[in-house]
Amino acid sequence: MISLTVNGRKRNFKGPPFKRLIDVLREDFGLTGTKEGCGEGECGACTVLVDGKPAASCLIPICQMAGRRIETVESLGPPGRLSPLQRSFQEHAGTQCGFCAPGLLMTASRLKETGADAVRVGLSGHLCRCTGYMHIVESVTKATRPRRKR
Ligand code: FES
Ligand code: FES
Repeated sequence: MISLTVNGRKRNFKGPPFKRLIDVLREDFGLTGTKEGCGEGECGACTVLVDGKPAASCLIPICQMAGRRIETVESLGPPGRLSPLQRSFQEHAGTQCGFCAPGLLMTASRLKETGADAVRVGLSGHLCRCTGYMHIVESVTKATRPRRKR
């Protein structure tokens, strides 16, 4: 059995040790906010926080997560009580199809620099097929500083 903390809650996983973290989150823990794009570590769609750092959940076997702290997009804010960062994505059209948004939100939640150039660099591991990135950068730069310093 593998024990870990997901969104502040202790969770146990009994199953194949090399099952991918994204699959455990979605299939075993019911946290379907995390999305799979490429499945190869290239697009950033599946990004979650592992011990506070962004990581591609499509590349991580669950056996490496014993005792670790995972945060998914569900940790930011439930429907109706969105975080300032999520609201900023809404207000500034940072999402269109929304597939890239969960991963972007998790990485953006850890960015310390707030200028547009720093945001572009910080989010450079994320691919979006819809927005052209301008709205994403605007959403992050216009979100309130205290939330990004979480
Ligand atoms: S789905 Fe994991 S990086 Fe693309
Ligand atoms: S909003 Fe569609 S992939 Fe980014």
